[in-house]
Amino acid sequence: NMAIFYSEDNKIISINTANSTYQMKIDKYGTPLHLYYGKRIKDDAEHLIQYIDRAFSGNPYEAMEDRQYSLDVLPQEYPSLGTGDFRSVALNVKNSDDSECCRLKYMGHSIIKGKYSLPGLPAVYADDEESETLEIVLKDEVSGIEVKLLYGVIENEDIITRSAIITNNCNEKITLEKAGSACLDFLYGQYDLISFHGKHNFERGFQRRSIEYENTVIGSRRGTSGHQYNPAVIIAEKSASETMGNCYGMAFVYSGNFMFEAERDQFGLTRTIMGLQSDLFHYLLEPGEKFVVPETIMTFTEEGFSGITKNFHGCIHKHICRGIYKNEPRPVLINSWEAVYFDFSAQDIIDLASEASKLGIDMVVMDDGWFGIRNDDNSGLGDWIVNEKKLGCTLGELAEKVNSYGVKFGIWIEPEMVSMDSDLYRNHPDWAIKIPGRNPVRSRNQLVLDFSRSEVRNYIFDMICKILDQSNIEYVKWDMNRSLTDIFSTETPVGNVTYDYVLGVYEFLERLRNRYPKLLIEGCSGGGGRFDAGMLYYTDQIWCSDNTDAVNRLKIQYGTSFFYPVSVTGAHVSAVPNHQTGRITPMSTRNTVAMSGTFGYELNLKALTDEEKENVKSGINFYKTHRKLISDGNYYRLSNPYEDDLTAWEFVSEDKKQVLLNAVYTKLDANPEISVIKLRGLLSDAGYRETSTGKVFYGETLMSAGICIPYPHREYESYVFEFEIV
Ligand code: GLA
Repeated sequence: NMAIFYSEDNKIISINTANSTYQMKIDKYGTPLHLYYGKRIKDDAEHLIQYIDRAFSGNPYEAMEDRQYSLDVLPQEYPSLGTGDFRSVALNVKNSDDSECCRLKYMGHSIIKGKYSLPGLPAVYADDEESETLEIVLKDEVSGIEVKLLYGVIENEDIITRSAIITNNCNEKITLEKAGSACLDFLYGQYDLISFHGKHNFERGFQRRSIEYENTVIGSRRGTSGHQYNPAVIIAEKSASETMGNCYGMAFVYSGNFMFEAERDQFGLTRTIMGLQSDLFHYLLEPGEKFVVPETIMTFTEEGFSGITKNFHGCIHKHICRGIYKNEPRPVLINSWEAVYFDFSAQDIIDLASEASKLGIDMVVMDDGWFGIRNDDNSGLGDWIVNEKKLGCTLGELAEKVNSYGVKFGIWIEPEMVSMDSDLYRNHPDWAIKIPGRNPVRSRNQLVLDFSRSEVRNYIFDMICKILDQSNIEYVKWDMNRSLTDIFSTETPVGNVTYDYVLGVYEFLERLRNRYPKLLIEGCSGGGGRFDAGMLYYTDQIWCSDNTDAVNRLKIQYGTSFFYPVSVTGAHVSAVPNHQTGRITPMSTRNTVAMSGTFGYELNLKALTDEEKENVKSGINFYKTHRKLISDGNYYRLSNPYEDDLTAWEFVSEDKKQVLLNAVYTKLDANPEISVIKLRGLLSDAGYRETSTGKVFYGETLMSAGICIPYPHREYESYVFEFEIV
């Protein structure tokens, strides 16, 4: 029972997962052609490829008189520039003579038990029993450059991953100008592209549009994956929707510059490529060196967007997330940022802890402002020394005091940065990324440290360890508050910096995890500016957005939920009027929205009324009794916040016995229409009791007829219904 199967007769390799088949053929010239990806089939799909003489689509030399063979029209696994394929390609190598050409041909392949891993990079991991790897070795005969295509398969999860390792086997340097990990060609059919765009304070908005005769490109040149586009896309057949239809998901396991392209070619083939951004990337590879292209996770589903979500939530939770918090409930936290910003002493943090303990909050996080000289965002980054004068005590004393209330203690750090006004910058100005002779672009008055250099990383690592060793710190929020510009390095070849920087960040995080295996790490980049599967390999959860407005969060968390599970999505209740929008929402609504993430608070607890405190207490109580269902259950989007007046979503336990339905009204009218919500994912023939009324419905009734959500009588009313199987 192998997932990967090679047929010697026709040189076709089939990858079968529970519900999908991925097929390729090594053709007579050694080119790996893509045949099929879709619902599981038994036959080979070679008949789909037609060989036709197409004018202006040239023929490789070895095809001789055969004008019907052209790399410009064939579906390929790993197309390269300079081979007569005029579409977007996955690879562009600049040879030592500056020519841009690499004609890759099959040398051999192997099928290996278990899932491959990637040196220095995050990747899906799996037990040997549940996974397999296909390696295909390709070579350019003229230069000797070797490319190993990697395919990882987790059969039962319908997951196929792709990556590539490029080896410079020449005697001279080469430069990689473009490197993708996955090219997915669709021989026929018309498709939509769904991507997630955004900005600071509004990440992962939803956009659906048609893939046309043009190259549609999204990506990042920011050095991080960025707020602007998320490195995850859905390619959907035209009729596909939330609940049905053929969809393909692709997510890049990488936290830096990326590029996704989708193009309908001249004969109606749709080509999609996920990989590294080609701008600011000219990777110099010395003879003998290897380059690892970050991984892309792919899935196929017949079940619409909800199928994509099910497969990706499973994959990220089980095969990307690591460490003790993978299957452990995460502490409910109170973060000091929106409570006190930069203006605090240890006493304010201790006050938060004492209030927190009364309300059931498990942990206090001291956000930005506790180190160096840091009373605003203009100074101090890089000086990771506790400002005991500002705090009024040592970090050890503060942590001890917080712990004395039975509350855990965590801190904020931003290791990749340096303020121009800092001792670190004064002592090591060349450690910041900037171009000699030019004034650098400034952003939040800070510069980015050259994390492609190990001496820079080591120095910061030691400083951070000194802090973490001083006291009982059980959590860090790892922030990153600007984009990279002025790409240059005094040590690293300039064209290698954007990639080596990201690998430097990964190396640092890996060391931190190894040294402090119990530390809970929350990623952050101005909120959700680096929210990707790569970061989730190193950080247990990621702060979803600096926008804590419960109503805006409905859309932000909706977009985030397509690929990323609730168990990694940071969400907090904050004060009203909300600091980002000025909107006022009920505490119960803020609770409902925030507890559909890694739950916490971010406000001045002392300023709450007694009634609000009761709300907080009962909210936390409710959350703690349901958090297994919320973090491990199957998540369903039941309405669309962009179209519907009611945003509804649902959690269903794996055994389908427990159900939680959440709904928030975003519109308020007199004499309104009735809102009916249909549940999903239940057992049709089982009875489900709605716990507040005791009324029992068949699963099929709840899924086909639905239930009415009461009229709201105030703005942004929310409802929570719980069902239990009888
Ligand atoms: C970023 C984060 C915030 C907060 C501030 C502190 O903007 O996203 O949550 O930590 O930095 O400066």
